[in-house]
Amino acid sequence: MERELEPRKVVAELDRFIVGQAAAKRALAIALRTRIRRYKLPPEQQAEISPKNIMLIGPTGVGKTELARRLAALVKAPFVKVEATKYTEVGYVGRDVESMVRDLVDNAVRTVKQEKTRDVTKQAEARAEERILSAMLPGKAPAPHPFETWLGLKEPEPQENAEASASRKAQKEDLRRRLLAGELEDLLIEVEVSERQTAMFDMFTNTGMGDLANGMQEMVGNLLPQQKKRRRVTVQQARSLFVQEEVENLLDGEEIARLAIERSEQMGIIFIDEIDKVAGKYQQGPDVSREGVQRDILPIVEGSTVATRYGPVRTDYILFIAAGAFHVSKPSDLIPELQGRFPIRVELESLTEADLERILVEPENALLSQYKYLMATEGVELEFTAEAVSEIARIAHHINSTAEDIGARRLHTVLERVMDEIAFDPQAYGGDKISIDAEYVQARLQNVLQNEDLSRYIL
Ligand SMILES: Nc1ncnc2c1ncn2[C@@H]1O[C@H](COP(=O)(O)OP(=O)(O)OP(=O)(O)O)[C@@H](O)[C@H]1O
Ligand SMILES: [Mg+2]
Repeated sequence: MERELEPRKVVAELDRFIVGQAAAKRALAIALRTRIRRYKLPPEQQAEISPKNIMLIGPTGVGKTELARRLAALVKAPFVKVEATKYTEVGYVGRDVESMVRDLVDNAVRTVKQEKTRDVTKQAEARAEERILSAMLPGKAPAPHPFETWLGLKEPEPQENAEASASRKAQKEDLRRRLLAGELEDLLIEVEVSERQTAMFDMFTNTGMGDLANGMQEMVGNLLPQQKKRRRVTVQQARSLFVQEEVENLLDGEEIARLAIERSEQMGIIFIDEIDKVAGKYQQGPDVSREGVQRDILPIVEGSTVATRYGPVRTDYILFIAAGAFHVSKPSDLIPELQGRFPIRVELESLTEADLERILVEPENALLSQYKYLMATEGVELEFTAEAVSEIARIAHHINSTAEDIGARRLHTVLERVMDEIAFDPQAYGGDKISIDAEYVQARLQNVLQNEDLSRYIL
């Protein structure tokens, strides 16, 4: 993981998806690296070094959110992205700003749990196999709980005579062989699976009491005796039920929580998008005041302790990345304390015609390839000539500079228009191979372009 996250490699990785914006990529890469460097220091020194939070500033549609998304996929650190505006919504109480930290820990718990699950899967599979065999063997008094047998805590009760028990054993081994050979997958067997009583709490989860409900559910769930239910299922289904159950049994919930909290505290990244929308004091409507939201966010960014259902989490070393277009407001419209907590400012540039052209073709899964894949599902091979690509970029850039600059999103609207007819009826355009050239692009867009009012609505 460390090698992978060398700044140069992070930039190279982001380059696969995002065109340009070198300064932003660099700043993000350095920030990631700094955390790893810090993590290697002795604890006393670690404590002295707090992360340098980043503010990404740039017009709409130039890749801020996309950078965050790609970064999230890249770092294996706990990561969440929230929109600052979410906290201004009416009735946001309950979905308070601290929920971003809870989401971060939830995210970490999921990852740690996945990792730990991988570690215990083999063992769980062995236990599941043993349970399936017991379920298949014709009934002799209630068998000891399968994993007590597994752990050697309890031998099967020696009530039968030696002969019967030997034949049972042989039978079992025979079954085991056939089970491993996959011959019994569709056989129906009767099994006992545990069921958690959860329905009662489901009604809370959509009412903003999610966390509370989850906490209670876990508490009560652990107190209630686990309900067992007999079901007839195929061996295949039984295996996946048992493996799941045994994995749960083998996982150490406390260890998972502890690791998840440690990772969130030390390596966690919280991306706060649309921060500009909570800047400035003036607003209408019944929403929670923007400044209020900033004040709420402040202690989290400054470092405080947030209670989560896995335990308290300190936010001092979490890395915060904020992003905003700052069209109307400026970073200096944020309350000073909050400004000060985002010392690294990176500006993203608005996209040039050349950038737009590259965005059409270069990134993995670039826009044009997406259209190609979609058409290919119908057996149509779609192609754009180089001139057509330039023309699309030129037109998109032209509209961005005459109407509003909406960045790369303009490519979407322009392309939709170009593709409209073909998407509607590919067969009418020559069937299995369609080549789009500059003339075609112009022809499709001419009407709209000539009429400025019309283009305002359509493109
Ligand atoms: N530099 C770029 N390279 C590749 N694709 C880009 C780039 N900039 C934007 N895009 C594409 O344009 C779309 C919008 O980008 P994104 O969501 O990142 O905008 P944003 O900067 O977050 O804008 P906003 O301020 O409105 O939130 C996405 O589909 C993204 O893939
Ligand atoms: Mg965005």
